[in-house]
Amino acid sequence: MTQKIDFNDENSNTSSNPSFDSVLQARLSRRGLLRGGMGSVGTVMLGGVGLTACGGGDDAVAAPAAPAATLLGFSAVSKSLTDAVLVPAGYTASVIYALGDPLTGTTAAYKNDGTDTDFENRAGDHHDGMEWFGLDASGKPSLTSTDRGLLAMNHEATTDETLSSFFLHADGGTPSLPRPAAEVDKEIAIHGISVVEVKKTNDKWATMQGSAFNFRLTCLSENMQLTGPARGNALMVTKHSTDGTKTRGTLNNCGTGKTPWGTFLTGEENWAGYFTRSATDDTTRGGASARSVVSLKRYGRNAAAASRHGWESAGSDDKYARWDISQGAGAATDDYRNELNTFGYIVEIDAYDKTKAARKRTALGRFAHESAAFGKPVAGQPLAVYMGDDSRGEYIYKFVSAKAWAATDANPADRITTGDTYLDDGKLFVAKFNSDGTGAWVELAITNPTIAGYSSYAFADQADVLVNARLAADAVGATKMDRPEWCSTNVANGEIYFTLTNNSNRAVNSASMPPDSANPRVYTDIKNGSSTQSGNPNGHVLRLKEGNVGNAATSFAWDVYVFGAESSAAPGTVNLSSLTDDQDFSCPDGLVFSPATGIMWIQTDDGAYTDVTNCMMVAALPGTVGDGAKKTLSYTKADTTTLTVDTYVGKAPGEDKLKRFLVGPKACEITGLCETPDGKAMFINIQHPGETTAQTNIADPTKYTSQWPSNAGYGAGKRPRSATIVITKTDGGKIGT
Ligand code: FEO
Ligand code: CA
Ligand code: CA
Repeated sequence: MTQKIDFNDENSNTSSNPSFDSVLQARLSRRGLLRGGMGSVGTVMLGGVGLTACGGGDDAVAAPAAPAATLLGFSAVSKSLTDAVLVPAGYTASVIYALGDPLTGTTAAYKNDGTDTDFENRAGDHHDGMEWFGLDASGKPSLTSTDRGLLAMNHEATTDETLSSFFLHADGGTPSLPRPAAEVDKEIAIHGISVVEVKKTNDKWATMQGSAFNFRLTCLSENMQLTGPARGNALMVTKHSTDGTKTRGTLNNCGTGKTPWGTFLTGEENWAGYFTRSATDDTTRGGASARSVVSLKRYGRNAAAASRHGWESAGSDDKYARWDISQGAGAATDDYRNELNTFGYIVEIDAYDKTKAARKRTALGRFAHESAAFGKPVAGQPLAVYMGDDSRGEYIYKFVSAKAWAATDANPADRITTGDTYLDDGKLFVAKFNSDGTGAWVELAITNPTIAGYSSYAFADQADVLVNARLAADAVGATKMDRPEWCSTNVANGEIYFTLTNNSNRAVNSASMPPDSANPRVYTDIKNGSSTQSGNPNGHVLRLKEGNVGNAATSFAWDVYVFGAESSAAPGTVNLSSLTDDQDFSCPDGLVFSPATGIMWIQTDDGAYTDVTNCMMVAALPGTVGDGAKKTLSYTKADTTTLTVDTYVGKAPGEDKLKRFLVGPKACEITGLCETPDGKAMFINIQHPGETTAQTNIADPTKYTSQWPSNAGYGAGKRPRSATIVITKTDGGKIGT
């Protein structure tokens, strides 16, 4: 989300870390790290089966092999401000699953007028990350099925202005405290995740209302297990779970991941803003230096700060009271002083089996999680999970499992207990980027004297290190990044790509966040010829190549694959990747490599280029770390001294290697991406169309800033709705060819 209340802009990293530190790290041989470069992705032969006239082509007799298709063979889509989803000629985009769509057979159709209820049995709001889980004809999990499966997706948040999620309520809802319980109950229920069965019949995709596979988890769902080192720790004890082993719900679910054993991972991102605590809470907890106060502030919850929706005001019932995390007079078992510690995790869910309790994996650390991407699994080696913490100046992390990957776990009898064996025991690392194009993974361990002796916070144990991962990362001098969003692993060569969406706090004269090698740009972007945005308004895409020991590597080489920019921006300082009119984009967020084609899809959640174009999705065929050149940027500081920053810019992507594929409707972001295994059906999400609508205009649909997807013929009512779309190619080919 970029508009209005932007909790992504939470900025609580007040550590004195330099955002870049080249002193402590061993100098690694950049050449050595880059030796043995991998082949780049290029044109692939697509020996696909032609679709038959009778439909259901997957059962058809094999047709002659199709001719080779060129990746990115489509014509680029132009930038657009229209209220529509635009895709290249030869492609079709259809809405299949929008906010409020019923999941059970008995749930009423969605009226979309603010009077609907029963959201526990409907699609949630703000569709975000999404993964595909195939089903065969008999309903068994399948790695190869291309016409039936489950979509597991996040419902991150809801469109709000002043407290209220106004499109959910007939009159726009109550923009003041106390919030009515009936409104709050709906708002709670549209957060979380959903799993919905989808099926292709006669070449047309649809969700299966009433499928026994369908389910929702909301931010009130029972029995969310806290697993890993922090399970049962004193930091987790609440009135609801006096032994600190569970919590209720999953919240502000943003990016996703899919495990090699076939489960769904969802990242809890901007959860802190949903809670509030009293103006006197710091004093109650022992003052500014009390450990819990230091922790709360580092995670963005200052005393007296209002909660996003005021849910705590809806009544004395425990389901509302839990959103007030003030410390009471009694013990931790009597209140919700620790409730914030039960959010902020990568959560593992068995999308195929709603009876299996979800797991919050504390071993992977607590922060504003985006996606979770596995490095290439190699039998006999540990698994690596890459993750970003999306706030200004936060860090990039890697978890390395204690257990070595066993290929037999790719299709286990019990998926979620298989997850227990990989994701509850391992090491958490944070990234430091050096100015010579190398970097280091620093383990966050209580045994590290720098962490154990950290002057700003006295860690009690390893569980404390994981629950307060940001503080541990501060202690070891991790590199402050420009809001790490999604990450994904290049299927061709195993390199790891991270989107860094933007950072308004990056500044030449900043003591805590001056430009550095991995976050090198500071400039002013002009919007509508008037308002300006400074810092790094357009973001960039960073990539890493691990060092000499695969997933467990503690060193890497890096460069910037591409810098977001307007094509007309200054080539020497802003448009460093020489983007053209058919390629330019701003604020990369979603990032997914397609296993079927090797194409890297970049999705935007932009607030800078939106005077010119709605958010978009571009397709990329990236090369390798180190295929470009070193570039030195110079800045004049306020004291007139010069600050020079060395960075490494990947080879400029020509128009055959980076091309705009899709532009979304008004005031949306594009997010979430999964495909059928053949790459011929792509599912993506359109999040929060029309979120710039003023709450006071709720009675006048002509004043909504978007009416998508009803204006595209989908569903009742005029209110804009977040929705999943499916993209197919008219000739039956792979998406992106
Ligand atoms: Fe939910 Fe950082 O995007
Ligand atoms: Ca601009
Ligand atoms: Ca995001």
